[in-house]
Amino acid sequence: MRVLLTGGAGYIGAHVAIELQQQGHEVVIADNFANSRRGTAARIERVTGIAPELFDIDVANRSQLDELFSVIRVEAVIHLAGHKSVEDSVRDPLEYYDNNLLSTLSLLSVMRRWSVRKMVFSSSATVYQEPTHPPISETSTVGLGQTSPYGRTKAMIEAILADFAGSDPLFEASILRYFNPVGAHMSGLIGEAPLGKPSNLLPLVGQAAMGQRAHVSVFGNSYDTLDGTGVRDYIHVVDLALGHVAALEGLARGVETFNLGTGTGHSVLDVIKAYERAAGRQVPYRLEASRNGDVARSFADVSKVKRELGWTASRTLDDSCRDDWRWRRGNADLD
Ligand code: WQD
Repeated sequence: MRVLLTGGAGYIGAHVAIELQQQGHEVVIADNFANSRRGTAARIERVTGIAPELFDIDVANRSQLDELFSVIRVEAVIHLAGHKSVEDSVRDPLEYYDNNLLSTLSLLSVMRRWSVRKMVFSSSATVYQEPTHPPISETSTVGLGQTSPYGRTKAMIEAILADFAGSDPLFEASILRYFNPVGAHMSGLIGEAPLGKPSNLLPLVGQAAMGQRAHVSVFGNSYDTLDGTGVRDYIHVVDLALGHVAALEGLARGVETFNLGTGTGHSVLDVIKAYERAAGRQVPYRLEASRNGDVARSFADVSKVKRELGWTASRTLDDSCRDDWRWRRGNADLD
């Protein structure tokens, strides 16, 4: 299939592009490089030997997007473009609603105009409402409550997709709720390099291991978990990318929602220890107060995606740390 990846030059997008190409799909990338680099397309080509078509486009710009659709004939869209920092969304909610919602509304209206009726949407486990009782299934409560503006944009977009599907019986969509994507491509060419300071745990651990950061702040050690630190479901980004290929190839009429995780939880200290094994060196950390909004434990019930798409994650936390470490050592000078 010829597939448009919005935000396809980003961390998740680049890995999805590689797996799509390696499964024989044609990839077109639309990205405005708000949190990605133009050079990523060349790195994708170095891995697969195939250069994805790349368009510098703001998906929220409806006329630019319409013009793009008029020249590319895509059969499906994997919609990854969007801001994704919880902290930034609290600081600037309007930017998050504007960017994440308008880009989706623009995309859906242009898809309708060009009769493109297949979509895979990048959502997040952050849409689940507390109290959540892990393992968290797709039937757990989703809402606009105790999440962040970022999480609310994801929950709103899920509702928009459901309403849009209700208006077009031929529309096919998969909503993928990511747990915690981590790691890097085994080639060492693609990895997590957000512009500016990362807010997610693994890149911060990697930077501390590299000596680019004095220490990792461990947010809280009095949670109701084995070692008191927060537990999350860390899924290798290549497994996550393969989940997108499975969702695309498994699309059917209507909207289906799938958790993409490993089904296993690891604590912050587990992550630090796994990274120390991968790097063969100590990672300095400091215990600090818990972070507002954090839940104690979150990990996925992944039985539905296994049953309906035949997909399961195969890579471990150690694999993720080893791959991240290889990538980080080889890209220390990436600005
Ligand atoms: C993981 C664990 C922290 C940083 C968020 C979004 C989710 C997705 C992934 C986009 C928690 C602890 C973290 C640090 C720490 N985002 N931590 N020190 O909050 O589970 O999920 O990112 O797709 O939608 O909600 O991820 O990596 O921020 O935190 O101790 O410096 O690490 O308390 O237990 P989170 P995270």
